[in-house]
Amino acid sequence: MNQESLNELWACARDTAVHAGKLTRDIFNQPRQITAKGLRDIVTDADTAAQKLITDAIQAKFPEHGFVTEEKDSQLPRSGPVIWVIDPVDGTTNYARQLPEYCVAIGAVADSGQVLAGAIYDPMRDELFSAAKGLGAAVNGRPLQVSQIDDLNKSLVAMDWARNEELRRSAMDVLPKFAHQISFPRVFGSAALAMAWVAAGRVDLYLNYHLQTWDVAAASIILAEAGGRLTDLHGRPWTFPSHTGYCIASNGRVHQECMTLIHWQT
Ligand code: 2AM
Ligand code: CA
Repeated sequence: MNQESLNELWACARDTAVHAGKLTRDIFNQPRQITAKGLRDIVTDADTAAQKLITDAIQAKFPEHGFVTEEKDSQLPRSGPVIWVIDPVDGTTNYARQLPEYCVAIGAVADSGQVLAGAIYDPMRDELFSAAKGLGAAVNGRPLQVSQIDDLNKSLVAMDWARNEELRRSAMDVLPKFAHQISFPRVFGSAALAMAWVAAGRVDLYLNYHLQTWDVAAASIILAEAGGRLTDLHGRPWTFPSHTGYCIASNGRVHQECMTLIHWQT
């Protein structure tokens, strides 16, 4: 893909993320219509409206492109030369409770599976994290770089909780191994935002036992372009679309130490 086309995808990801984020911010304080999707899994009217705004804007610009979206929409084509991977509200539980930690995440992926561009917009702080393959990563125009911390003892480690019992137990098994080996833990409740913050050097590592493609696609390119590392629990790089589930996102420097701790048998 030439640089002009790549720049077009990047701009589209940024613009649509900001527009959708503004929509969610404008109605942040209004009562939400909440529908249960499954165990500890909800969708709000804002998720649906934001997703429609994003997919309409992308279809108007790139009618031949395909989609993978968190909220089901049978009208959308699944395949195309570029697949748009969309999480209209990442951190829906926070959003529904008027907690400000949530974001819009949009990734553009080639049919080869290579992530080409991505944008993560934090509406409540008006911060736009974005990147394109080989062109670097930025937040509101400033270059992004992961932290230099190379010692887990000095690291801020963010982690989120899976919905189902078995994966929660796995996450809880890791906590005692971590407790005295890190600086402090954090739980934000928005995977994409946490990974954008790893890319920005604000957090050194993020761990999640159950992520979906749409939580990760945009973050994967932002993190890669900021010098970070994104793998499963065994250090295998995250790939689209097959890899869902366990994810470690880090500055690269504390990654191995974290994997060693996770696999450490007491
Ligand atoms: P969501 O808000 O879009 O559902 C913390 O729960 C973070 O992990 C959120 O970003 C959430 O995305 C994401 N997540 C994805 N799949 C999950 C799962 N099965 N259980 C818990 N969180 C999940
Ligand atoms: Ca999500």
